Amino acid sequence: MTSLLIDNLAQYASPVAPAPARGSALREVEVVTGAAIAIVDGRIAACGPRDQVLRDHGDLPVHDAGGCAAIPGLVDCHTHAAFGGDRAGEFDLRSQGAGYEQIHAAGGGIAASVRDTRAAAADGTLGPLLDRHLAWMAAAGTTTAEVKSGYGLDRDTELAMLDAAAAGHPIEVAPTFLGAHAVGPEWDDADDYLTFVIKRVMPQAAVRAEAADVFLERGAFDRDQAERYLRAAAGHGLVLRLHADQFSQAGGVGLAIELGARSVDHLEATGPEGVAALAASDVAAVMLPACVIMLDLPRPPARELADAGAIVALATDFNPGSAFCHSLPLVMSLACMQLGMSPAEALVACTVNAAWVLRRGDRLGRIAAGYDGDVVLLDSDDWRHAAYHLGGPAVAGVIKAGRRL
Ligand code: NIG
Ligand code: FE
Repeated sequence: MTSLLIDNLAQYASPVAPAPARGSALREVEVVTGAAIAIVDGRIAACGPRDQVLRDHGDLPVHDAGGCAAIPGLVDCHTHAAFGGDRAGEFDLRSQGAGYEQIHAAGGGIAASVRDTRAAAADGTLGPLLDRHLAWMAAAGTTTAEVKSGYGLDRDTELAMLDAAAAGHPIEVAPTFLGAHAVGPEWDDADDYLTFVIKRVMPQAAVRAEAADVFLERGAFDRDQAERYLRAAAGHGLVLRLHADQFSQAGGVGLAIELGARSVDHLEATGPEGVAALAASDVAAVMLPACVIMLDLPRPPARELADAGAIVALATDFNPGSAFCHSLPLVMSLACMQLGMSPAEALVACTVNAAWVLRRGDRLGRIAAGYDGDVVLLDSDDWRHAAYHLGGPAVAGVIKAGRRL
């Protein structure tokens, strides 16, 4: 555990409300100018105007921020960062008109990443590949990330993905079991595959993962199949999450609410009933604007969800197919430019609300006393550059639990 005084900040910006911030709280960001942040044993002991902070904490080792702005460490609550290979060839084909679902149906897409990830797990390179991806994310300001399995679809590789996620990393990682990402290539029948996953993989996956996730979509799993998988996961004490309404409305929002899921993610196809239902629930709406732009999908109803009072979060969806994007600042930019969110809303959505999705909302996502000492230093004296600087480099330095990365 490390102690550090971050001194000489032009300003820091932090969500005001504790997690989950919804309604007017989604817009509330406090900006403290001429500030300092004292981190003692990895936690924020004091923050505010520098005179006040220095009074009690002037003896800590100092990091001179040189007049830049700071925001809380960013939390990426939806990633598929453990994968082998890439899908640059598919990107090339899609740029010339091929469809994502068409490539998936023809045996590419997720199945291609399953082949490459199984090979990487077998030859011992999956861990180093995840480390490389986490280093990209950390350099862009991510201090905590979820990492899903789901490119193994067999017992050994699914568990290897979760083990790679759970291994020690410079940033904090929350592993999620996505055994129901697609039907494993060895299986003809989705129900038979799910029986295998639930009986033979889930008991050991549940020891390694915090949450379970399912891809509820035409061409993947239907509502009944998703319900069977998620109920089994709940029986193992896993938090429930869903990929739903990406291409079609197939009952995912209703199922998420019925089962008390933590989040439903994607929502590009969600209509007004889904918005109203989510706003009246405690299920977070996680939106993934890098996937929206990379697949040229309709925009999810972010403005409507925010205005109706839903718990709104943002994430990269970092994966080799639909969102080869590791950067939450870029996601914040896209949320402002494409989803009608303000920089303040985007900040709240990928800090304290994303931390809430990962059940870390009591200690991550705010610059406030008692929270973890996770801070992003920006290459500007105005915190809004995190969203404004399209493609960056918006980030000048990253501090995790008081330690400079
Ligand atoms: O969230 N939609 C399902 N899963 C991922 C994409 C996976 C892939 O294309 O490899 C997503 O977009
Ligand atoms: Fe995803």
